[in-house]
Amino acid sequence: MTTTTTRAARQVQPAEHAHAAELAFLAAYDDGPRPPGWRLTPRAVVTFIVGSGGVALELPRQARRDDLPRTLTVTAKFVGERALVERCVVTLAGERGLLLVGEPGTAKSMLSELLSAAICGSSELVVQGTAGTTEDQLRYGWNYALLLAHGPSAAALVPSPILAAMRTGAVARVEEITRCLPEVQDALVSILSDRRIAVPELSGTADATVPAAPGFTLIATANLRDRGVSEMSAALKRRFNFETVGPIGDLAQEIALVQRQARATLERVHAPFAVDDAVLEALVTAFRDLRAGQSVEGWEVERPSTVMSTAEAVAVASSLALAAAYFPGDRDVVSLLPGHLLGVVRKDDPADGAKLLGYWDGAVRRRAEDGARLWRRLWELRDVLTD
Ligand SMILES: Nc1ncnc2c1ncn2[C@@H]1O[C@H](COP(=O)(O)OP(=O)(O)OP(=O)(O)O)[C@@H](O)[C@H]1O
Ligand SMILES: [Mg+2]
Repeated sequence: MTTTTTRAARQVQPAEHAHAAELAFLAAYDDGPRPPGWRLTPRAVVTFIVGSGGVALELPRQARRDDLPRTLTVTAKFVGERALVERCVVTLAGERGLLLVGEPGTAKSMLSELLSAAICGSSELVVQGTAGTTEDQLRYGWNYALLLAHGPSAAALVPSPILAAMRTGAVARVEEITRCLPEVQDALVSILSDRRIAVPELSGTADATVPAAPGFTLIATANLRDRGVSEMSAALKRRFNFETVGPIGDLAQEIALVQRQARATLERVHAPFAVDDAVLEALVTAFRDLRAGQSVEGWEVERPSTVMSTAEAVAVASSLALAAAYFPGDRDVVSLLPGHLLGVVRKDDPADGAKLLGYWDGAVRRRAEDGARLWRRLWELRDVLTD
């Protein structure tokens, strides 16, 4: 009998696998000095995340290898200010904790994953913060069978992802840190200041403290809609540099991103992508108008309480594309747009459907009257919102 050694397919690849070729290329491309434990130079980390601006980078002659292409254009992954990414990288190069805060769906988690993948080659040392997160999950636990059989020993210790990162000098991630109880969060204070974890059960042995290897640091994310970062203890706040991640500033960039990500979703399920650019533009425009409380033309728009995030826009664009792929010819894709928008707008407060109707009676109607064909069609679909 033969055993199969191929790994099962994954729905989502971690960043270090999805972008392995770019990471290997950038490691060879920029052979400048790097902070201890880093796989790439700080500059190469920034290039990995924001892309090479459409420019094909060429490997210097001495760095050429058979397993690397000679030139490579690095794709942009995070759309946003380069300066923000540079500040994040500088924070981590100084082995300080980094806290990414912002509204839901602004790519905080994605940015933390990309940073850790580029810096230490792994984005998988992660703790998901919840109301039920315990100190053990941030420090260490025990294999109780071994503990009962042989007493406390290094072999019976079950390291948390953070402890594992400390041992290897890697970047650990804590998602949604403010969802953890404040007293649990505070387990991180001593980790970030002393740079070691004490294991009192093993006192008297060489394993009684686990020191952090050079390169170890922490990236946490926090959502402004959760219990606030203001409730974090002052001691913990002081150990992090805060960076606020905002929504994408530029309409064209947001449309391009939504299209790229929706295409990628369809590729994953081997379905063709057939949504017009004009539909995507209308979709993203509506999201931005409702998010900002003002239309692109400057008309006032009533904001729903839910966050009209780019991540939601990607989800709607993907749904439209899936509908077009699996139910072609049933209905045109545009006719599905108002219903999807209504679903998003009502997420926080069902009464917010009225605000979307207000948007239709204001901005959508005026654009239709100005003669824009797609907006005319959307205006005709107003009934969907009143049922
Ligand atoms: N600026 C951006 N650059 C690239 N992708 C973005 C950006 N903003 C949003 N996205 C999209 O949003 C998706 C979700 O992002 P992510 O889950 O990282 O958000 P988040 O800020 O962690 O949200 P939450 O607070 O809900 O955890 C990304 O995978 C990407 O498709
Ligand atoms: Mg997140």
